Amino acid sequence: MRRLFVLVFTTVITIFFLTCFINAEHMDNKDTAERSSLKLSKKLRRLLSAEMNAVQHGMTNLSVAIPAGDWNSIAETARYIKDGYILDRKLSKNEMTEFLSSLPEGYNIIDREYKRLADEIINAAEKKDPDEVNITYFRLNGTCIECHVKYAKKRFPGFK
Ligand code: HEC
Repeated sequence: MRRLFVLVFTTVITIFFLTCFINAEHMDNKDTAERSSLKLSKKLRRLLSAEMNAVQHGMTNLSVAIPAGDWNSIAETARYIKDGYILDRKLSKNEMTEFLSSLPEGYNIIDREYKRLADEIINAAEKKDPDEVNITYFRLNGTCIECHVKYAKKRFPGFK
């Protein structure tokens, strides 16, 4: 009798944990599908990639210009980041509209914050305020992480 009880108890517990596990796995899949990467045409992906590499150079320039108090270079670089190096220049109006409408709303929210912070860096550089420039640079870097975690996990598998 006791044996039977133990057997039934173990079976119930096993089924319970298996169900939790399967559910967790399922949710994770859904989450990953949403977060992995954007569906873009070849041309758009190529341009976005070129844009991102230019932005990365811009961020490196800023990390050198900020501790040097090189206000002109800071403002100029932040302006490039804000206005876009490549994407906004290489796409026709129609292509740009198509690109923007193909993006998830969450992407656009981060993108707007990213551009707003780049604009804040320009203002802080014009005021020659090193602390404000530095803090805003740090926050701008945060938007790179936020967007990559959500929409570029394939490219940056380091983000879980
Ligand atoms: C609003 C979203 C968004 C923001 C903000 C963003 N990125 Fe990206 N980035 C992406 C996406 C999406 C990809 C992956 C494109 C792909 O799938 O090939 C990417 C890819 C990259 C790449 C790899 C490009 C390549 O050739 O593979 C670099 C480098 C990069 N980003 C740098 C940055 C830096 C630095 C910042 C911040 C200053 C930044 N990104 C901000 C969305 C963003």
